[in-house]
Formats: sequence, structure tokens, C-alpha cells
Amino acid sequence: MDKFINVALPKGRLGEKVYEFFEKAGYECPAIKEVNRKLVFENERLGVRYFWVKPSDVAIYVERGAADIGVAGKDILLEYEPDVYELLDLKKGKCYMAVATMADFLDDTDRTLRVATKFSNIAQNYYRAKGRDIDIIHLNGSIEIAPVLGLSDVIVDIVETGSTLRENNLVVREKIVDISARLIANKANYKFKRTVIDDIVKKIGLIVENL
Ligand code: PRP
Repeated sequence: MDKFINVALPKGRLGEKVYEFFEKAGYECPAIKEVNRKLVFENERLGVRYFWVKPSDVAIYVERGAADIGVAGKDILLEYEPDVYELLDLKKGKCYMAVATMADFLDDTDRTLRVATKFSNIAQNYYRAKGRDIDIIHLNGSIEIAPVLGLSDVIVDIVETGSTLRENNLVVREKIVDISARLIANKANYKFKRTVIDDIVKKIGLIVENL
């Protein structure tokens, strides 16, 4: 068994904020702050190893055990439903998933709704629960352009400040779910490294509570 605790962090601004939680909790790794292109950093004394991965890939590393724990958005957890433990809401990266349309869109509920999204599973589950027939148009980004060009009737996407919607003449019609960053753990590795993982969860939990 690897003596290190392996932590997958989402590359980018959210990951940097979240790393500070680990640092404050006593799991610092000063080398991570050096400006370079390295992706793996370790503090051998504390037995902690961090790696930066694409935010949407964190759950894959954790589910497969390449990372013991990691930080992933609730959007990714709902979309891919990885088989991991969700241990803590870090209350960072807050946003929400919503249905948005052009401001003048009128829905005809007898018609199949064309839904453009990066989050096909979330959209399917949402409309299935409402009993609405939909046609999913899976896109990989710039979702807001789909209704503008007539590719879809609505979009299901993340709203943070709302400025992308506003600047493209779209409005929120329905809020689906609140999103924030979550600390997740590999199920098998959690059993073996429970003492350390529980310590991290407890300490970061206190930091989050006192923000
Ligand atoms: C996300 C999301 C929205 C935007 C929302 O996109 O898909 O487009 O941010 O933020 P806002 O409400 O603050 O404007 P992201 O930047 O991840 O790019 P992409 O979806 O186009 O790849």
C-alpha cells in the first residue's frame, strides 16, 4: 500500500482555493506554489501527494483509485454518477444548473423539447421526472449559442454570475440544482487510509464552517 495520501485537485482557480484548505489543515506542500508546468507535487514528510488534473477528470482518478481523494464539482458527480464517497461540501465554486431559453421563447408542451447541453444525464433525469419528451443535443461547450442559432429550444447549463446568459439574450426558466465543490474519496482506499482521510475531512470541515 502506497504510504502517501494521493489527492487529485482540479487545475485552475478553484483548485488553488481548495489547496489552501489542505494547507490550512496542516497538509501543506510548498512546492505546489512554484510557477512551472509540473503536475505532481509531494511532501514526503507529511506523506501527501497532490496532482493537478482537468476538473472534469478528478472523479475518474478517484473512482479508479489512482487518487485516494479529490475535489470535484457536484455537476460532474450528478452527470457521471461515479462510484465514490462524497465526504464534504467545500462550499466553493458555487453555481447552479438551470434551464434557460431565449427571452421570447414560448413552450408548446405537446412538442418534443430540443435540449442542448453538456450535461445529458442531468437533463435526461430532470425531464424524465417531469414526464417530458426531449431530444438531447449533446454539445461540448458554448452551449448558450444553441438557442440563438435555432439549434435547440432550451439549454441545460451552469449559471454562475449569469452574465453569459444575459449577454446572449437568454433567461433562466427553471433552476435544477445547486452546485459546489465536493471532497470525494475512492471507496476501497478509504478503508485503508481512513485515519488520514477522516483527519483531513474533520480539519477542512472546520475551516469551511468558519469561513
Ligand atoms: C460555464 C457555463 C456557462 C458559464 C456560466 O462555461 O457552461 O457557459 O460558465 O458562467 P456565468 O453565469 O458566470 O456567465 P465555461 O466557462 O466552463 O465554458 P464552456 O461551457 O463554454 O466550455
